[in-house]
Amino acid sequence: MIKKGVIVAVFFSLFMALAGCGKSAEPTSSAGDAKKKVIVGTDASFAPFEYMDKGKIVGFDVDLLDAVMKEAGLDYDLKNIGWDPLFAAVQQGKEVNLAISGITINDDRKQTYDFSVPYFESTHMILVKEDSPIKNALDLKGKVVGVQNGTTGQAAVEKLLGKENKNIKKFENTVVAIMDLLNGGVEAVVTDNAVANEYVKNNPDKKLKTIEDPTNFESEFYGLMFPKGSELKPKIDEAIKKVIDSGKYAEIYKKWFGHEPNVDNLTK
Ligand code: ARG
Repeated sequence: MIKKGVIVAVFFSLFMALAGCGKSAEPTSSAGDAKKKVIVGTDASFAPFEYMDKGKIVGFDVDLLDAVMKEAGLDYDLKNIGWDPLFAAVQQGKEVNLAISGITINDDRKQTYDFSVPYFESTHMILVKEDSPIKNALDLKGKVVGVQNGTTGQAAVEKLLGKENKNIKKFENTVVAIMDLLNGGVEAVVTDNAVANEYVKNNPDKKLKTIEDPTNFESEFYGLMFPKGSELKPKIDEAIKKVIDSGKYAEIYKKWFGHEPNVDNLTK
């Protein structure tokens, strides 16, 4: 006689198999047992790190990612999914396995995500019209300031003006924040220094200038961002270090920034 428990177990396994449970919900696509593809997410509106050019995602991060993934022997796809969705996607580890997007490593984010070793040093800058009276970060008080929502630029401005300050205008991405500056909606945009410099350099007709303020804006570092406990992190850390040591990093850096990088501050 067949025991009731056995029948239940058989039906249960059948149900699980049909429902596709037990299979991993990892965002990697696989062709049989062939190599799995790693899905990398980004917000491609942050030149020169990642932006769209003739329908392709290009930039410093894109070239660095390629070098790192080749070094790690990982097959990957890069997807442009936008800044806010990126954080949710990485946290859930469903749509993407990791992100590269000029993402600053900080304690707040470290509670939810794992980060690679640092790959780029950054700080904030103020972008204003050439004839603006704003001279430094303290001059932002009482002014309408644009930031990309959910960035460290937003946090830096909130620190100066107060968290609930209605004069802080948050945009979905940095491109639209700069558009609003050009249209007179905001009087300044606070963003990462390399991004502010790139915009001014590429758009001389727009008559914007950048303002540094090392007393009020701290230095920060970018890292690749993973879901907590990702198995990819150690492999990718190793590969980043190799890409830096081999001189490949310097080559990519020179292509995008036109001068030698200071890699000492990354490795210390
Ligand atoms: N470094 C800043 C941060 O992590 C801004 C990054 C924005 N990156 C982007 N691709 N939009 O908050």
